[in-house]
Amino acid sequence: MCGIVGYLGERNAVPVIINGLKRLEYRGYDSAGISIINDKGLQMAKCKGKVTDLENKINGSFSEGKMGIGHTRWATHGVPNDVNAHPHTSNSGELILIHNGIIENYSSVKEALLSRGFSFESETDTEVLVNLIEDIKRKEDLTLEKAVRSALNQVIGAYAIAVFSVNNPDQIVVAKKGSPLVVGIGDNEFFIASDATPFLEYTKRAVYLEDDEMAVINKGGELKVRSIKSNKAVAPYVHQLKMDLESIEKGGYPHFMLKEIYEQSKSIQDTLRGRLLAEKGMIKMSGVFDYHDKLLNADRFIIVGCGTSWHAGLVAEYIFEDLARVPVEVEYASEFRYRNPIITEKDVVIAISQSGETADTLAAVKLAKEKGATIFGICNVVGSSIARETHAGAYTHAGPEIGVASTKAFTAQVAVLSLMALDIANNKGLLSKTQFRQYLSELDAVPAKIEKMLESDAQTRHISELYKDARNFLYLGRGYNFPVALEGALKLKEISYIHAEGYPAAEMKHGPIALIDENMPVVVIAPKSGQYEKIVSNIQEVKARNGKVIAIVNNGDSEIAKMADHVIEVEDTMEVFSPLMTTIPLQLLSYHIAVMRGCNVDQPRNLAKSVTVE
Ligand code: AGP
Repeated sequence: MCGIVGYLGERNAVPVIINGLKRLEYRGYDSAGISIINDKGLQMAKCKGKVTDLENKINGSFSEGKMGIGHTRWATHGVPNDVNAHPHTSNSGELILIHNGIIENYSSVKEALLSRGFSFESETDTEVLVNLIEDIKRKEDLTLEKAVRSALNQVIGAYAIAVFSVNNPDQIVVAKKGSPLVVGIGDNEFFIASDATPFLEYTKRAVYLEDDEMAVINKGGELKVRSIKSNKAVAPYVHQLKMDLESIEKGGYPHFMLKEIYEQSKSIQDTLRGRLLAEKGMIKMSGVFDYHDKLLNADRFIIVGCGTSWHAGLVAEYIFEDLARVPVEVEYASEFRYRNPIITEKDVVIAISQSGETADTLAAVKLAKEKGATIFGICNVVGSSIARETHAGAYTHAGPEIGVASTKAFTAQVAVLSLMALDIANNKGLLSKTQFRQYLSELDAVPAKIEKMLESDAQTRHISELYKDARNFLYLGRGYNFPVALEGALKLKEISYIHAEGYPAAEMKHGPIALIDENMPVVVIAPKSGQYEKIVSNIQEVKARNGKVIAIVNNGDSEIAKMADHVIEVEDTMEVFSPLMTTIPLQLLSYHIAVMRGCNVDQPRNLAKSVTVE
């Protein structure tokens, strides 16, 4: 996610844009930039770092201007640095553009533009887009509006863009598909932003563009909205905003964690975008492809991570061994780095880290690299220390995760690992074409199923109310859902401060069953699977000792509903993808219990979002 801001009116655009970008830093904060049209012509500044770094770089050197655009970046293509920061300029210097989203076919468009003599400074997809618009504008002698429309009908992907020509300082063209863009309408002034926080203090009248809509904003004029595809005029609906600043930053949710739980349909979709091509029966992961030789011939995969990322690695162990038939060891990075592990050049080490800055994981990566292993990173922060230390990798495009308790990063990590395992299995000839397509089609359906599951959390709230004062919880799972039991327990303990343990369900009889009584809520993750009958027996064992069973089951599972005290239903899916479903009610359970206990959900006591110390 990135944050875009624009202004066209009678005020000095510089402070409007700078302050607006600060309000959007929760959307991305690895680099920032601003362009202003004023009496000096075009002034532009951009730099790696936060908006305050940009402000210091400008340091009052910008003359007052009535029009401009600004951007705070969350890198997806190209590491965070000054050159990759937005705004981006077309080769002639005429067009200035900012963008939030991903242009999937940017490399083929870039090739075509290079062949037509264009050059590029940055590694971004955005610089390709602004030059595509310029190429069309010049070749067909079109207005900016028409050139933008034509270009957007050629690109594939998601975008919220604002673009202007230095030859027409009284006009900004905006367009939206898959990323948010809202236009604030003031008295003879317009504001453009990713959400309303940058202009709420100036106006509460806002038009939220819909997908496939673009608008031309002319100074002193009306907002004209059209369909990008059909070019038909669209009558914009002007909202009268009632939300306050803070609630808009959180997308109307009370906490970032809840917002991020509800973002998981989109974050998985963004993570799969351009990589999972289900209709074509293909997986396209350049980082994996470039290292196919190492990955397909690895003696062993060693997965290192901490906390929730370690849990994602445990899920991957089941997936890789089940599908790709390659031995996998999952290691706590903090243990791995000190135990003098045996590592060979035939090993592939997968390092999983949302922040890309966890000290133990970084140290584990460096150790494995010294010993000759191939290092593959799965990080959520582009250009982070761990990402830069690896030989190859695949970013999760989950967007900034602000809540300390990791939610959308976990499911995005599992989605990337699932793609990797399927790609390796397929290239090793371990899946028939039909089987491979079945997996791809089912994984493709996951975001919509998550969307459906998140339509209501009434049952989870009800259960949270009943058990919010419990002193201990037990989480049980089998197979692919044993790591989910661990993850559910971690979520609960880290934000509600209730002690919780995750266990393989079959292990209960080897000790933990002694804990079971009427005061012990036991969460049993029991989707239909190869071990379903076994997990049913485990539920009966708990009930025989008066334990309270909260079962996570597939829709319509009447058998477990008869024996459990509570059931929370999840959408059916293939067993290999069930963690992507079963994790979500556990995230919501921990969230609601923590809120009901008055805990600081987004910043739990004693915890940091990124543990950069040992
Ligand atoms: C998860 O909810 C915790 N916040 C924590 O365990 C986290 O997963 C761990 O510190 C690893 O962080 P990373 O993914 O950024 O490396």
